Amino acid sequence: MAYELEDEFGDIIGKARRGNGLSLSRVASQAGITDAQLSQMEAYTLKPTEDQVRAIAEVLGLNGSKLVDIAMERWAPGPVPAQLDERRHVERISGDVGGYPVNAYLLICKTTNQAAVIDTAAHPNLILERIKKIGVKPTVILLTHAHADHSDGLPELEKATSCPTYIHANEPKPRSSQQFRTLNHGDEVSVGELTVKTLDTPGHTPGGCSFYSGSVAAVGDAIFAGSVGGPKISYQDEITSVRNHLLSLPDEVRLFPGHGPSTTVGEEKAHNPFF
Ligand SMILES: [Fe+2]
Repeated sequence: MAYELEDEFGDIIGKARRGNGLSLSRVASQAGITDAQLSQMEAYTLKPTEDQVRAIAEVLGLNGSKLVDIAMERWAPGPVPAQLDERRHVERISGDVGGYPVNAYLLICKTTNQAAVIDTAAHPNLILERIKKIGVKPTVILLTHAHADHSDGLPELEKATSCPTYIHANEPKPRSSQQFRTLNHGDEVSVGELTVKTLDTPGHTPGGCSFYSGSVAAVGDAIFAGSVGGPKISYQDEITSVRNHLLSLPDEVRLFPGHGPSTTVGEEKAHNPFF
């Protein structure tokens, strides 16, 4: 496959099982497999059959056909097109946190060369290097959520760029060198001539949000290609907010998640087993 998905079959069923508050034994017995088999599947040490995937999907309220495609490695989202649209460009900066890649982004207004830094990927140095290399002017820092792998290094980034930092009003606040500016659903921030709209996508965290501008949305850990972020606060809020605020956008809108490859609204509607 061209891209590695962030989550494998085992991650997806584990998130759905815990999100639904179901025990391993209950899901296993309803799906007609043993506890040990389900446990091994969640740990990726046992590959399920298609029938087993469909049975587990049924118990967890996931889409069986979409889950089969991911379990059998038949789907991955297409690559990011070289040109997103006339007015915007997105640069992905990937940092390594504890052996796991994390994505931060620069959303660039092509007309003015001004940019929003979206998350830190816990590597402000990599972001600053990229800013210098491509010659853009950062004007704001936007945080999708406060988890350390997305916000560590914020004070260093703030000092080096002199940018204000925006975060959702409901989100716990990470370490910062200045006062945060807070956002609520629908609030807009300007980046050069671009307008970036805040969309509530809580569930992974209390005030997780996404940033939408024209043909692109940075979605943090609300949704991944083929999966969702761990629903640490509320599974129901995560599913509902992603469905209502992200999957309601036009199919061609490109989603840039905090982990794993980028995808589109249309791809996720067609292939994400949570929807
Ligand atoms: Fe997170």
